[in-house]
Amino acid sequence: MPELASPPRAAPALAIEGLSYAYPTAIAPRRLLPPDGGVKVDRALRGVSLTLGAGEFALLAGRSASGKSTLLRAACGLAPHFHGGEIEGSVHVAGLDAIASGPGDLAAVVGYVAQDPETQVVSTTVAAEIELPLEMRGEPAASRARAVEEVALALAIPHLLDRTVDTLSGGELQRVALAAALVTRPKLVLLDEPTSQLDPVAGDELIWLLRRLNEEWGVTILLAEHRLERCLAAADRVVAMDAGSIAFNGPPRDFQAWAQQADAALETPAARLFSLAGIEPLPVGVRDARDILRGRGVLFFAPPSRGEKQARRRKTQHATGTPDPVLTPRLPKHGTCGSSSARRTPHEMRCGEST
Ligand SMILES: Nc1ncnc2c1ncn2[C@@H]1O[C@H](COP(=O)(O)OP(=O)(O)OP(=O)(O)O)[C@@H](O)[C@H]1O
Ligand SMILES: [Mg+2]
Repeated sequence: MPELASPPRAAPALAIEGLSYAYPTAIAPRRLLPPDGGVKVDRALRGVSLTLGAGEFALLAGRSASGKSTLLRAACGLAPHFHGGEIEGSVHVAGLDAIASGPGDLAAVVGYVAQDPETQVVSTTVAAEIELPLEMRGEPAASRARAVEEVALALAIPHLLDRTVDTLSGGELQRVALAAALVTRPKLVLLDEPTSQLDPVAGDELIWLLRRLNEEWGVTILLAEHRLERCLAAADRVVAMDAGSIAFNGPPRDFQAWAQQADAALETPAARLFSLAGIEPLPVGVRDARDILRGRGVLFFAPPSRGEKQARRRKTQHATGTPDPVLTPRLPKHGTCGSSSARRTPHEMRCGEST
């Protein structure tokens, strides 16, 4: 019987092998080198190997100057194609050799959003900016218009399409840069500290928007961030850099345990609090922290949802035949405070009262 050919395996979204890179300014002129060779190059990346599968959402962590931005630049070909410098090793994006290929070919498979999107924007209007990568690829006008509309809807920015880019806020510009990176439907999107210019609410919204696009479009995401507490819960994997090398590569929960031992600067505030209190495992987000505390029976104040409030009200009315008290579950047991109000039953406590 003839052997069945196995289906071709999709190339990883990103495959980096033994990558070392030095910016041109870090390379000392050879005539200045000591005769014994000495240390001639201060490499921003040193022997980095990393593979990201299709559809992964990876968070790139690390202290300042650890090489996060440089790794993103190497993954989209900016290093060395734009920055110059010396590069060793290999970088493939969806099977395409990022060192040998030109920026045009790379733009079809990888999108990049720089930390400061103002430096990336070249067009006058938002629609023209988002359309530009498709125009450069020679796409017909009708399909360009459709693609721009789709990506603008996905990022909730159709109302910005006719605006000029110089009238946008930092957060709006961030979304426009993201739309331009996504409009070609690349396999991989790289984002350099996308929440750094956003307030906490807008920052959270952007991270969960990225997670939704990652799930719905299957796009692989590699996102460099300092505010890890914001992104850990959305990530499948954390890659932590130290002095140009990968120091950790694994799931978010393992990262928290690793950071606790290896680099306290990377610990999230919640993880630090948990480890001080001796509670394990360390949480990867607020919801996770709440679940862990609930699981341990630790009293934890979380505003009840509307459904919980209604259920509680019905239960109290049923048990006592009286209207619902407001703070019942939070009060100490009857008599423990010694004050007049605490001597009453807890369900007599009402909003605005003090003990
Ligand atoms: N354009 C550049 N030219 C020369 N050296 C650079 C350039 N960009 C970064 N470097 C150097 O490369 C090293 C890694 O910097 P990189 O910007 O990749 O770190 P990072 O982890 O992104 O830091 P941060 O968290 O502060 O953004 C640093 O020593 C930095 O000084
Ligand atoms: Mg950086």
